[in-house]
Amino acid sequence: MQYSYLCFTFILLTISFKAPFTTSQKVTCNSNDVRALTSFSSFIDYGLEWNTSDSNCCSWIGVTCHNSTVSIKRVVRLELGSKRLTGLICESLAGLDQLRILNLSQNFLYGSLPSGLFRLQNLEILDLSSNDFVGPIPEGSNLSSIRYINISMNNFNGSVDAALCETSSYIHTLDLANNYFSGEVSANFGRCSPLQQLFLDHNDLSGNFPDSLWQLRDLRILHLQNNLFSGTLTYEIGKFSNLVELDISSNRFSGILPDVFARLKKLENFFARSNNFSGNLPKSLVNSQHTSILNLSNNTLNGPINLNCSAMVHLTSADLGSNNFHGPIPDIISSCQRLTNLNLARNNLGGEVPFGFKNLQALRSLSLSNNSLVNISSALAILQQCRNLTSLFLSLNFHNEQMPRNVNFHFRNLKALVIPYCQLKGSIPSWLSSSKKLQLLDLSWNRLSGTIPFWFHEFKHLFYMDLSNNSFTGEIPMSLTELQGLINMNISSEGLSSGFPLFRAGADGAKYQYKGIWSFRPTLDLSHNKLTGSLWPGFGNLKELHVLKLKENHLSGTIPDSFSGMKNLEVLDLSYNELSGEIPLSLEKLSFLSKFSVAYSQLQGEIPTGGQFLTFPSSSFEGNEGLCGEDRTPCQPRQAPHVQLADKKMTIIGLQFGLGAITGFLLTVTICFISGWVLPKT
Ligand SMILES: *[C@@H]1O[C@H](CO)[C@@H](O)[C@H](O)[C@H]1NC(C)=O
Ligand SMILES: *[C@@H]1O[C@H](CO)[C@@H](O)[C@H](O)[C@H]1NC(C)=O
Ligand SMILES: *[C@@H]1O[C@H](CO)[C@@H](O)[C@H](O)[C@H]1NC(C)=O
Ligand SMILES: *[C@@H]1O[C@H](CO)[C@@H](O)[C@H](O)[C@H]1NC(C)=O
Ligand SMILES: *[C@@H]1O[C@H](CO)[C@@H](O)[C@H](O)[C@H]1NC(C)=O
Ligand SMILES: *[C@@H]1O[C@H](CO)[C@@H](O)[C@H](O)[C@H]1NC(C)=O
Ligand SMILES: *[C@@H]1O[C@H](CO)[C@@H](O)[C@H](O)[C@H]1NC(C)=O
Ligand SMILES: *[C@@H]1O[C@H](CO)[C@@H](O)[C@H](O)[C@H]1NC(C)=O
Ligand SMILES: *[C@@H]1O[C@H](CO)[C@@H](O)[C@H](O)[C@H]1NC(C)=O
Ligand SMILES: *[C@@H]1O[C@H](CO)[C@@H](O)[C@H](O)[C@H]1NC(C)=O
Ligand SMILES: *[C@@H]1O[C@H](CO)[C@@H](O)[C@H](O)[C@H]1NC(C)=O
Ligand SMILES: *[C@@H]1O[C@H](CO)[C@@H](O)[C@H](O)[C@H]1NC(C)=O
Repeated sequence: MQYSYLCFTFILLTISFKAPFTTSQKVTCNSNDVRALTSFSSFIDYGLEWNTSDSNCCSWIGVTCHNSTVSIKRVVRLELGSKRLTGLICESLAGLDQLRILNLSQNFLYGSLPSGLFRLQNLEILDLSSNDFVGPIPEGSNLSSIRYINISMNNFNGSVDAALCETSSYIHTLDLANNYFSGEVSANFGRCSPLQQLFLDHNDLSGNFPDSLWQLRDLRILHLQNNLFSGTLTYEIGKFSNLVELDISSNRFSGILPDVFARLKKLENFFARSNNFSGNLPKSLVNSQHTSILNLSNNTLNGPINLNCSAMVHLTSADLGSNNFHGPIPDIISSCQRLTNLNLARNNLGGEVPFGFKNLQALRSLSLSNNSLVNISSALAILQQCRNLTSLFLSLNFHNEQMPRNVNFHFRNLKALVIPYCQLKGSIPSWLSSSKKLQLLDLSWNRLSGTIPFWFHEFKHLFYMDLSNNSFTGEIPMSLTELQGLINMNISSEGLSSGFPLFRAGADGAKYQYKGIWSFRPTLDLSHNKLTGSLWPGFGNLKELHVLKLKENHLSGTIPDSFSGMKNLEVLDLSYNELSGEIPLSLEKLSFLSKFSVAYSQLQGEIPTGGQFLTFPSSSFEGNEGLCGEDRTPCQPRQAPHVQLADKKMTIIGLQFGLGAITGFLLTVTICFISGWVLPKT
């Protein structure tokens, strides 16, 4: 270790300076411990507020000594989590040979770890998580008392070493997640038999499902997700008779899911998403009585969705999206009375939403997007009876059907309604006005017509609305400028995070995937409709709006000056309309604006050149005969190019002059103070 030499030198120095100190106190801590800690502190550049001239190290922040009555005490705990510590850990720390708890988590410590740290015979808890440590786990670790090790969220690499756990008969938790460990999992892991929780997720581990793990009969939680494991799952997985949670998501496992779930009697949460599993759902899985959360999304599973809800009485969340399941949605799912989340999106399911779904009274989030379902009227009539429904995703179904209108639906708890890409006919239904909690509405890419109703301002929490690519006519209702959610944004995301990925098609046809609803930026998108009338100055009130798209309509009149009030605006697209007048200079104040277009309208006058306008390409302005500006059609004679150039030079000179003047002034004042011209010297 390259730091060891430095450490050693320092120890010698501290011995010579500190030794006389330590004996003079009544109650004090062991001098070896003082030395180890002092040396440790000298490698911490920032964050440690120790008074090292106080020789009683037991009183230093984060240091705990043994509570015995002897006058010379030993350090048993060093707990310095979340202290913004920066620096290295040196070998001397291993001098704390009575240490039981070492917690340096959530700091900015870096460098490799001294090997002595992994030979502390009394250490029970080691938490070094969330730092910037690098390198391999030092060889020859021997932690015979260790119970808990967490070195997750660092930059460790090399192979995962079972030596960390095999020397201890007490180890119950080993967390090596979120590092760069690679290679296969050592066969020696089988010797870490007391392990109850093993986290190896988010590394670069490869090979088959690690065989050695079968021997860990006490294992309750096993996380292997986000690695490069491959091959098939064998029947041996049934040996994990105490397993409560298994996550093998985002690996390269393939083949069928073995029919062993009857033996996994305690398994509650099973995550195997984003692998290449194929075949049917095993009989023992769809009859598993303890399963509560099941995520098998994004595989190539097929066959019918034959969850037996008479058996699966604890099922609360089932994500079977993005597979090849086919057939109708089985009515038996209606008897999963505890189901709160159900995702069946992106399969080949057909038919109607089963009548029995009205019994899913616990259901909060439902996605049936991208199947071949029919009869939206019946679907909505059934689902409105699910009183707790907050998020409903039905995109890419019900092709060409009529949006049900003259009916009395009540979706009282609905926060997100997403039904784009269905080619639905009709208009915005009046029953929607009773969904007072609505936060997110996406009815884009349909064939809806008529006007946008005035009652949208009653949606006090609406912050995302996409009605683009329809055939709406009439004016933009002024009430949209009163949307409280876009004025204050005091919206709680609670209950909105369905966890389901949402697929949206981008303008260029590219697919975007949002992690959850909350990642949607506050948006009003009314583009590609047939809207007429002018832009309301009141839009300026929408301080929290990030995206305003009104492109491809027939909007006329001028761009109001007040648009500069939308302080958070990132995207403003007004292109392909019939707008006239000038681009207001006040828009230069929109400092977050990164995409702007007024192309193909009838605007005139000079293009602003301040603020973000310097960064917009000329395509943002094209197709406006009357617009002029620097690298385009030159403006009228009074603003001929050479005048502008001269202006610029003037400003530059002005700026330099200004800076010079300020510096000069400050210097003068300082000199005056120093020399006592202003205040007399005392
Ligand atoms: C540090 O400890 C020494 C010795 O106990 C004491 O005299 C001094 O006041 C302390 N300094 C601070 C800043 O607490
Ligand atoms: C001293 O610490 C031990 C554990 O280290 C604990 O069991 C005991 O209760 C403590 N005694 C006192 C007096 O705090
Ligand atoms: C370590 O300290 C951090 C921050 O203070 C705390 O969150 C964490 O629970 C501690 N670790 C252990 C194992 O107690
Ligand atoms: C390990 O530490 C990380 C970050 O400090 C924390 O999120 C995680 O829950 C810990 N793992 C265990 C098993 O306690
Ligand atoms: C670990 O250390 C203990 C105590 O020093 C010793 O008895 C044991 O043999 C060591 N184990 C290994 C594998 O080195
Ligand atoms: C670990 O990382 C270091 C520095 O990035 C690199 O030099 C070394 O080759 C890596 N070791 C392995 C086994 O990947
Ligand atoms: C689906 O799985 C594939 C690999 O099987 C992966 O590349 C892709 O990112 C996953 N998609 C999602 C949305 O998780
Ligand atoms: C997934 O498995 C199928 C066979 O079931 C195979 O044809 C396909 O190539 C595999 N895909 C990947 C990405 O490994
Ligand atoms: C569904 O589960 C119930 C209760 O465990 C059981 O009696 C029934 O046979 C199961 N049905 C099927 C088709 O497996
Ligand atoms: C819909 O599902 C099909 C496969 O079933 C897939 O190819 C397509 O990309 C999906 N569309 C979207 C928008 O997710
Ligand atoms: C519906 O939601 C409420 C409030 O979150 C909850 O108290 C109630 O238990 C839920 N109903 C069912 C059937 O789960
Ligand atoms: C299931 O896994 C997918 C990734 O493949 C993830 O996006 C989704 O949030 C998970 N579903 C649930 C309900 O947590």
